[in-house]
Amino acid sequence: MCSLNKQEPLHIFEFMPTKKAAKKAGRGQEKTGQAPFFSKELMRWNEEKNTRLMPWKGEKDPYKIWLSEVMLQQTRVEQGWHYYLRFVKQFPTVATLAAAKDEAVFKLWEGLGYYSRCRNLLAAARQIMTAHGGKFPTHYSEIIQLKGVGAYTAAAIASFAFSQNYAVVDGNVIRLLARYFGIEQACDSTEGKKKFANLAQELIDPNDPSAYNQAIMDFGATVCKPAAPACSDCPLQKKCVALASNKISQLPVKTKKIQKRERWLYYAIIHGPKGTLVKERLGKDIWKHLFDFPGLERTDFAEFNTGWWEKWLLEQYGIKATCRQISAPLSQVLTHQNIKAVFIQFTTRAAKDIATFEWATDERLALLPFPKIIRDHLGK
Ligand code: ADE
Repeated sequence: MCSLNKQEPLHIFEFMPTKKAAKKAGRGQEKTGQAPFFSKELMRWNEEKNTRLMPWKGEKDPYKIWLSEVMLQQTRVEQGWHYYLRFVKQFPTVATLAAAKDEAVFKLWEGLGYYSRCRNLLAAARQIMTAHGGKFPTHYSEIIQLKGVGAYTAAAIASFAFSQNYAVVDGNVIRLLARYFGIEQACDSTEGKKKFANLAQELIDPNDPSAYNQAIMDFGATVCKPAAPACSDCPLQKKCVALASNKISQLPVKTKKIQKRERWLYYAIIHGPKGTLVKERLGKDIWKHLFDFPGLERTDFAEFNTGWWEKWLLEQYGIKATCRQISAPLSQVLTHQNIKAVFIQFTTRAAKDIATFEWATDERLALLPFPKIIRDHLGK
């Protein structure tokens, strides 16, 4: 099932329907008037009952809309809220973001996860400066060319900033459409994605795509919620197929099961006369451009003692150090990975330079962006 858990962040489905396919998608519902009833009641609910306030709501600046939408992907609104406010304060325009030091941007993103979003944001801001003369592109077809921008984000920007008629399809929209229309097709199959995208495009109010897109997201988040939806107060209940057939908890259907990777990370935190030894992660992975320490990775728990770690450090890095403490494992659960980290504290008199590493002072450590599990261990 898609997004039934309240804690689960929203996932978006990247597919852009053609106008013809969108018309066809709504055809099955014409006999019962289900589609027009949906759009009309949704807009009425938005006018009369939608009290949801969020800092990016009603925003017309495409740059700020883009930031909010990227931040809200795979992130709960409550979590994204403060990151968004801090981000627009520090980088109020696309030009300020494009000119920023990568490290400062990653620092602001620290803890939000899915750091490829941050890398893409930076790349796209610079793309806007070079390819668009610093002006945010104004049409869907150009917006979708920006690095990291897919159909969902492009539709949100094009509709909210420029009133263009492109329907957003995210987890909230999928859930609402699957229940209301009783769609049992898997929402993560190719056919299912097309079906939901076409249907969403058919339903959008062409007179006010911006209000419609915001309304459908808010309705999914506050009324047709993943768990304990407010069906008794729902203005769509009269024509909701899932409610009539007692299938609310079974829809939407999702087939693919996420394969999780178990990772055990062992980090050597070496305190020397010049600071703590750190390095930037440059490999192609989820933490690229964040910082960490020398260490090793396994798929299971390793009960190595202090002597083993001292020998390992000497062999790997030529550093003679005393192992002072081995922490209990810290855990972090990500969508595709279960991570455990063990921190091994050392002190040393060594101060030698080691290629690709740097000795960072405590002040510098506080400024560097680290993965959340490391920042949690270090404290603020
Ligand atoms: N989730 C993603 N974008 C959103 C928006 N604009 N409003 C509410 N929830 C959202």
